Amino acid sequence: MTAALKLGFGPFAAPAKGVLIVFCDDALKFGPATRKALGTAADLVARAAKTERFTGKSGSALELILPEGLKVARLVVIGSGKTAELQPKDILKLGGAAMGRLPAAASDGSVFAEFASGALGAEQAADLAQGVRLRAYAFDRYKTKRKDDETPPAKRSVTIAVADVIATRKAYQSREAVAEGVVMARDLVNEPANVLHPEEFARRAASLKKVGVAVEVLDLKALKKLGMNALLAVGQGSAHESRVVVMRWNGGKKGEAPVTFIGKGVCFDSGGISIKPSAGMEDMKGDMAGAACVVGLMHALGRRKAKVNAIGIIGVVENMPDGNALRPGDIIKTMAGKTIEIITTDAEGRMVLIDVLTYVQKYLKPKAMVDLATLTGAIIVALGFEYAGSFSNDNALHQKLEKASEKTGEKIWRMPVGEEHDHYIKSQFADLKNAGGRWGGAISAARFLQNFVTEVPWIHLDICGVAFNNKSDEIRHSWASGWGVRLLDEFLKENFEKK
Ligand code: BES
Ligand code: MN
Ligand code: ZN
Repeated sequence: MTAALKLGFGPFAAPAKGVLIVFCDDALKFGPATRKALGTAADLVARAAKTERFTGKSGSALELILPEGLKVARLVVIGSGKTAELQPKDILKLGGAAMGRLPAAASDGSVFAEFASGALGAEQAADLAQGVRLRAYAFDRYKTKRKDDETPPAKRSVTIAVADVIATRKAYQSREAVAEGVVMARDLVNEPANVLHPEEFARRAASLKKVGVAVEVLDLKALKKLGMNALLAVGQGSAHESRVVVMRWNGGKKGEAPVTFIGKGVCFDSGGISIKPSAGMEDMKGDMAGAACVVGLMHALGRRKAKVNAIGIIGVVENMPDGNALRPGDIIKTMAGKTIEIITTDAEGRMVLIDVLTYVQKYLKPKAMVDLATLTGAIIVALGFEYAGSFSNDNALHQKLEKASEKTGEKIWRMPVGEEHDHYIKSQFADLKNAGGRWGGAISAARFLQNFVTEVPWIHLDICGVAFNNKSDEIRHSWASGWGVRLLDEFLKENFEKK
């Protein structure tokens, strides 16, 4: 249903049709190429700005229909604020703001990659283009009807006018790879659980072979043989079999230890026998957002041929109640040998993750590992919808992630994790219990995981608040955010890739 967006680059020239989108700063100043293209229409902008009280504040917009002196149907001026202070993440957002002003039914848009200070360099223009691409995403494949003015034309194209077309195209290649990864993650999270059950998720992950990622799917038999009983316990009440998918990208030095990314892939979390309240339960189709991020990241690495050895591994299950389902009070022996008393079957994500963590350390010998999981509602209580909670046993590694977070704008906030929280998850019957109660719920969950982490540098990201919600922003208007793909791509690029 969504028309594919054709995104291209061209030289600065006033377009003959469609919508022209340009930028001005907070003194309403245009860059030279923009001024030239606008000609006398620049006076119209000045007059309209006055009556509309448009000041060029970052992200704000002024729209003129049928502007005299131009051939386009509509001119949109977007405020860039003060251009001297703009970082890549701000330019990305301005690209999103520009795309957001292209009406749904418009078929052609031209965006001038120029601020008051002058034309954007290739790298900056490519950031702008990535923002356009991300904002253009919509998940509407299940809509069969729409209002006329919301029906996108069969073909939509956006041309970004730049100073150096060839250099920008080249700079955009890696951004496009990452944007595709974000889109892939969003698609997976938005997809309903009747379609995206564990077997189907594994099939979609296997499609990464197309971009050169080696994919290995561990089926029920393999998981039983490995002794992944904690992961299997979660899936045992579902009509769908559980899977673990290992995705290897070997773009680095031969034999160099990989950086490993682990994702919680609960395709639907009903809570199991400890069933969740019905209000809002539909959101639990997104409980595989950690796994979706890992798949999107591996896609990006393959597509941009990253010079790094990275492995993505996801535990994919469905948490359902039936006659075979796990019960509160059950005791499970994990792959690592430790025993777990089940307090609530709704604390299932950690059960999935601990066996995958054990597998990673035993068989993949990683340099570092990062896990992502929609693990606890408690992290939303603590941090809201703006930050993911991060937990780590390694300050240096965590600092690297903080840097990538600062650069990409995907925010993290470090929380404590350590032995002081052990008493929350002490069991009277087994080595550990799987839930530590209300207080510090995100921390006891992280500490539970840490019981299965040896000396490997590790970061756990609790992404409940950021993975899906109705908080649209400049670069995303879909329920699923695709959070983490840009962050982890940057984390790898800056710290682990050969330059
Ligand atoms: N998948 C949920 C957490 C969640 C909540 C994700 C809201 C996205 C939005 C997780 O499996 C869960 O149920 N956690 C419990 C843990 C508790 C039972 C210890 C929770 O947060 O209540
Ligand atoms: Mn749960
Ligand atoms: Zn869950």
